[in-house]
Amino acid sequence: MEAHRGMVPRLVCCVVVILASATRANCKPPHIVFIVADDLGWNDVGWNNPKMATPNLNRLAKQGVILGSAYVQPICSPSRASFMTGYFPIRLGLQQKSIRPHSSKRIPRNITIIPEVLKSRGYATHMVGKWHLGFCNWKYTPTRRGFDSFFGNLFGSNDYYQHIANGEFFPEFKATSWLTSGPLSLIKSSLRMTSKVVIKGTDFRFNETVYREAIGHYATELFSERAVTVIERHDKAKPLFLYLAFKSPHGPLQVPKRYERRCKKIKSKSRRIYCGMVAALDEAVGNVTKALFRTGLTDNLLLVFTSDNGGAVYVGGNNLPLRGAKTSLWEGGTRVPAFVFSPTLLGKRGYKHSGLFHGVDWLPTFAHVAGASTDQIRSIDGINQWQMLTKGRLSQRSEFVYNLDNQEKNGAIRFGDWKLIAGRAGVFNKWYPVMGEHVHNTDFDKDNTTDDSTYMLFNIKADPSERFDQFSLEPTVAAAMVEKLDRWRGLMVPAQSADSHPRADPSLYDGVWTPGWC
Ligand SMILES: *[C@@H]1O[C@H](CO)[C@@H](O)[C@H](O)[C@H]1NC(C)=O
Ligand SMILES: *[C@@H]1O[C@H](CO)[C@@H](O)[C@H](O)[C@H]1NC(C)=O
Ligand SMILES: *[C@@H]1O[C@H](CO)[C@@H](O)[C@H](O)[C@H]1NC(C)=O
Ligand SMILES: *[C@@H]1O[C@H](CO)[C@@H](O)[C@H](O)[C@H]1NC(C)=O
Repeated sequence: MEAHRGMVPRLVCCVVVILASATRANCKPPHIVFIVADDLGWNDVGWNNPKMATPNLNRLAKQGVILGSAYVQPICSPSRASFMTGYFPIRLGLQQKSIRPHSSKRIPRNITIIPEVLKSRGYATHMVGKWHLGFCNWKYTPTRRGFDSFFGNLFGSNDYYQHIANGEFFPEFKATSWLTSGPLSLIKSSLRMTSKVVIKGTDFRFNETVYREAIGHYATELFSERAVTVIERHDKAKPLFLYLAFKSPHGPLQVPKRYERRCKKIKSKSRRIYCGMVAALDEAVGNVTKALFRTGLTDNLLLVFTSDNGGAVYVGGNNLPLRGAKTSLWEGGTRVPAFVFSPTLLGKRGYKHSGLFHGVDWLPTFAHVAGASTDQIRSIDGINQWQMLTKGRLSQRSEFVYNLDNQEKNGAIRFGDWKLIAGRAGVFNKWYPVMGEHVHNTDFDKDNTTDDSTYMLFNIKADPSERFDQFSLEPTVAAAMVEKLDRWRGLMVPAQSADSHPRADPSLYDGVWTPGWC
């Protein structure tokens, strides 16, 4: 019985590949390059906004399939967790806030992640970029979770040149830490009791070793250079999985002048630097693509590009015509630019597919095309969308949960065209204009007016900008949606603790954020 089960996906793989390309006699699993941008908003890419300088991304998107309804979580760690595991974060305990560098939140060990699935099919697996899925113990880090190599940040919101990440420790931490240190620090600690303490640490590694050579070099260039090396050195006898998780264009606003110059028509300084960061990201993807063609990996390649959440309007990102921003449950926080590209595997391409796709769908789709056994991923939320991506078939997804969070007392779900929001959708509730000459970071008011007890109902197809709440106009739909939301609530597990761990303090490890304290 077990052997039989294991065989099925492999057969499926052969059939799919033969149908997709009549000239391909083999059924080798394809190389998979999974590129994630950070905080890239709906209106931050050339195919939605011609003012953005993204010629490489535009070309790939237009020759591939643009996913017009690609959904993710509203913030970083939860989104990345959903990509890697195929589970909604409510089922992993990762539904609240992103992981801070001194918290023990992580992907649980008993959840299988993409590189582990692909490794079972003989893939070489490499990760470049930002992890942000927990590192309190080595066993939660990329090289112990199925990646052959890792080059980048274990945390996530570092600066682009020094690769320093800030931890915000809170008084409880200092209050316990003085117990183990001298009397002077006792005085210092009690002074600190009144406010949060920011502690800085370096965060850049090559595999498990600190990589100080990175210091002074721009992260986007380092990442694309390493990705090109991985591609060039890859032994083509094996399939390749490359997870390339850029930090761009997440804050802080930093970019070499040569990229900013590509956006010189933009008057707002913040938006211009932001646009330059997107241009650097675009060039990085261009370099990676060139390497894929040069080495011939494009003969059997699936390239995926997606953002992890909506644009941070207060930094320079933009989501128009969508409402809201990163962190909110509005479409502007959760519906993002995404596409797939492949010179050989897409039976239908050069168009936009508007079917529902969620970040949890990547893992089962990759598992399918790799011919991997599904034994370990039976209970996931993701759906294999290979037919949608490659043949333009209807999406297999009709429903998903945007998020549910007991701390924020909010949540949202989607069923078909309908979206139900319970409680506050977030703190950015408006339709934010692109930063202009006279619009400054501080002008982005955190509108926090909706309240806990309300529901809102939108028809996203008819009203993608979420302007017309139909909750009281459509009582039958509303009641059915509330019932569905409650069903999702029943699947939610308690959130993992976000407490600060004193032993995470990088000053205990030569100024470096280091695993091994939980
Ligand atoms: C992982 O472990 C948790 C806690 O023990 C358990 O509730 C969950 O069902 C497990 N998940 C899987 C996929 O094994
Ligand atoms: C990291 O690991 C990979 C794969 O084992 C290896 O090729 C590479 O040389 C390692 N890098 C360093 C700096 O050790
Ligand atoms: C792309 O490659 C060129 C040529 O090697 C290099 O000069 C440039 O810095 C690379 N760009 C990025 C963003 O890595
Ligand atoms: C929004 O307002 C409510 C009620 O005043 C408050 O409890 C909540 O913390 C606010 N949320 C944010 C993120 O400011």
